[in-house]
Amino acid sequence: MAATEIPQFNLLDHGLFVDREPWEIFEWMQREAPVYRHPDEDDGFWCVTKYDDVLDVLKRAKTFSSEAGGSARIGHVEPDVLEARRNFMETDAPLHNEWRKPFARDFTPKSIGRYEDQLRVIVDEVLDEAFEKQDICFVHDIAALIPIRVLGTILGLPPEQFDRLIELGDRMIIDSDPEIAIHVAGSPEAEAFKYLPFGSEAAAELCAMGRQTIHARRGAPKDDVLSILANMEVGGCPLGDRDLDNNFALFVVAGNETTRQSMALGLLALLKDDRAMSEFSQPGGVTDQAVDELVRIASPVWHFRRTATEDTEIRGVEIKQGERVVVWFAPANRDAEVFDNPHTLDFSRKKDEHLAFGRGGPHYCIGTHLARLEIKVLYEQLFPRLKSIEQTGQERRLYSNFTNGFKSFPVRITAK
Ligand code: HEM
Repeated sequence: MAATEIPQFNLLDHGLFVDREPWEIFEWMQREAPVYRHPDEDDGFWCVTKYDDVLDVLKRAKTFSSEAGGSARIGHVEPDVLEARRNFMETDAPLHNEWRKPFARDFTPKSIGRYEDQLRVIVDEVLDEAFEKQDICFVHDIAALIPIRVLGTILGLPPEQFDRLIELGDRMIIDSDPEIAIHVAGSPEAEAFKYLPFGSEAAAELCAMGRQTIHARRGAPKDDVLSILANMEVGGCPLGDRDLDNNFALFVVAGNETTRQSMALGLLALLKDDRAMSEFSQPGGVTDQAVDELVRIASPVWHFRRTATEDTEIRGVEIKQGERVVVWFAPANRDAEVFDNPHTLDFSRKKDEHLAFGRGGPHYCIGTHLARLEIKVLYEQLFPRLKSIEQTGQERRLYSNFTNGFKSFPVRITAK
């Protein structure tokens, strides 16, 4: 794309993300319009795509609120709907601190380390079945199974619920894809469910599953995350059913699809780059630093939203109070001003620099250490068993401008 040519694009069109990752559009924005006013049916919204600017917005959480208009949807959400669906990711300080603090303790590297043995067993079980089949879909047969089983264990859910949670969680988060959602977000049919978590018909069943455990843990806590949720107080009061549902749904959705897609996008990046694959798969190659670089390339989150609470500016561009600001995580992770050869895996890059987990602000992903450990253990246990791995068909991408990833990814794995 020439420097002066203004491309025609619509980032609200999920179809734009279905054939490929449209990097050239983001590169144009980074070069020509780093704070870009994107039109929509209302008054338009700002797109922030440069690494430094995304970091700036995430850090200035008072000016760029997650609470005012929510963070999960670019479009305006009616105030009563926003309120009914609010989880703690869509709160600001001081309320956000009160919510996050009790959970944060359970997601430190030390705390997560307690689950490593169980994680290794889960990964081995998943790999045993996958190697038996040989011709597999990497998404369904490996990447989807690990995060939900690990998350279910940490939350304290009964194992017989895990597989069902995969389907329900997918229907909630990939609500733009008619092959996955029962009612596509924004459709007249979806209207009836707008007050449920994430506005999804799948929420009723998903939350009913969560409530069984949450009610059992009330007054009888165990060492799991749902015990914290069941017994915590916010503003001096125990949580009502709506808060319990919304935040249970948040954990299931946030910890599931993201990690799965990071595993899948990461594998594709490795399969396309023999040098990187041989470096990563050699004994000792799956280092923390290398895993972090894989997550940079394999960023599963396209964007989150903020709302300006006062008149301000980003990179000298005036932003008015009430305007929507959308931060694009995956493109910022490929900002050539920060990452040399940004589309290439380079395991010598500095750890912890990328923005895939939303570094810099109060909403920094609480599951960072868990996600990294899951990805690390998957590859640590896959490579020693693997004679060969090859892609056997075209991957099919999600119809989503929110989640970057695949619905299917056929590969053949051969054991040593
Ligand atoms: C590769 C995997 C993952 C990626 C790329 C990822 C990405 C993110 C990002 C970008 C945010 C910030 C949202 C914002 O700024 O508005 C976030 C928040 C969050 N993530 Fe993750 N996530 C991953 C895995 C997980 C896991 C495994 C969990 C498990 C519990 C989790 C739970 C959460 C929660 C609860 C929040 C909200 C935190 C807050 O608002 O304080 N995530 N994640």
